[in-house]
Amino acid sequence: MEERQMEVVPGLAGIPAAESAISYVDGEKGILEYRGIPVEALAEKSTFLEVAYLLLFGKLPAESEYKKFKEDITYHTRLKVKILRMMELLPENGHPMEYLQSVVAAMGMYYPARDVMNQETRYWSVVRLIAKMPTIVAACERLRHGDAPIPPNNELSFTANFYYMLFEKAPDSFTEKIIDAMLILHADHTMNASTFSARVVGSTLADPYTVVSSAIGTLSGPLHGGANEKVIHMLKEIGTKENVRPYIEGMIERHEKIMGVGHRVYKTKDPRATFLQTYAHQLFKNNSDKSTILEIAEEVEKVANEKLASKKLYPNVDFYSGIVLQEIGIPTELFTPIFAMGRVAGWLSHWLEQLKTNRIYRPDQKYTGLRNQRYMPMGERK
Ligand SMILES: CC(C)(COP(=O)(O)OP(=O)(O)OC[C@H]1O[C@@H](n2cnc3c(N)ncnc32)[C@H](O)[C@@H]1OP(=O)(O)O)[C@@H](O)C(=O)NCCC(=O)NCCS
Repeated sequence: MEERQMEVVPGLAGIPAAESAISYVDGEKGILEYRGIPVEALAEKSTFLEVAYLLLFGKLPAESEYKKFKEDITYHTRLKVKILRMMELLPENGHPMEYLQSVVAAMGMYYPARDVMNQETRYWSVVRLIAKMPTIVAACERLRHGDAPIPPNNELSFTANFYYMLFEKAPDSFTEKIIDAMLILHADHTMNASTFSARVVGSTLADPYTVVSSAIGTLSGPLHGGANEKVIHMLKEIGTKENVRPYIEGMIERHEKIMGVGHRVYKTKDPRATFLQTYAHQLFKNNSDKSTILEIAEEVEKVANEKLASKKLYPNVDFYSGIVLQEIGIPTELFTPIFAMGRVAGWLSHWLEQLKTNRIYRPDQKYTGLRNQRYMPMGERK
């Protein structure tokens, strides 16, 4: 039988993998909307939990709906003692994304949610995952440094609580706002790699903890969420504004990718990068250092724009997020886990959407291997 003629599109670029009403990107104009609302307006005016509700349930919550959702989340921030014990046994040099992926997968054993068609199961899984991820990230950071995890303080807001569990003190209001906006800006972004993973795993009717742990693993790669850490390492290595040009030109000559630059969809500057750059300016306003990391970053942006303009490569969200997080004292290895704490709202929204009209993902392939080969006994092999 003749093989069907098929065209393989590397990275499935431009191929719609699902119909979705959750987020919208216009890559030419630099627009990102959640359920039709510009992300900048949400980051400025709302809270992460409000945005999570919007993504999950399709509308901004009314006051009573918001109150209940917030209470449900707040009530579920604690970790079971057995989960904490399990975390204590994980290697201290493990990356927080590895901790997060493992612990989220294990949560499925403590909160069985295999009946994914049950509405209650769905709701409480969503609540538990959003509520517990910050607690896991903070506990993992403490344990990796030999410190005891700090239990959540449910008098604090969702975001202030995360900061408190890391540093044993509540953040000032600007720091709280920055982290909350960071979660909002990362909450969803159409059919990116980790969201696609979540939808593929969800389509098998696997439980939501498996869905989210697979998405966390996908996000950890340096071409996806892991880029924010790499940006900071690069900026530190550059060291001064004067070193930027030779450093970036060298990378371009060696065909190396500049981290935090470029995007499959945006052919202009990522609106989330623009938003975070404004926060970075506010944070660095009183900094008298000659060559701050922000100045170095803006010089990288300038040189990259100059040299890579023909390829339409501009800063993406990861370019400025690390700078902002570092300046408020967040350890570099927590940048991607914080991305995941926001994106979990998007993954779960896509999971719920996938289940509405589910058909298991089972794409095709274009076979390029051998056919009809004879089995060769081991003695004859070279
Ligand atoms: C985001 C990213 C993975 C998109 O990948 P993609 O859509 O597959 O695009 P490609 O890798 O095919 O890039 C297209 C061209 O631009 C170049 N390019 C892409 N990103 C680049 C970067 N960051 N620095 C230098 N050149 C880059 C590629 O080398 C390629 O050049 P060529 O056509 O001469 O071969 C890619 O831009 C990248 O690796 N960026 C750095 C990592 C990062 O910041 N990731 C976070 C994304 S939010």
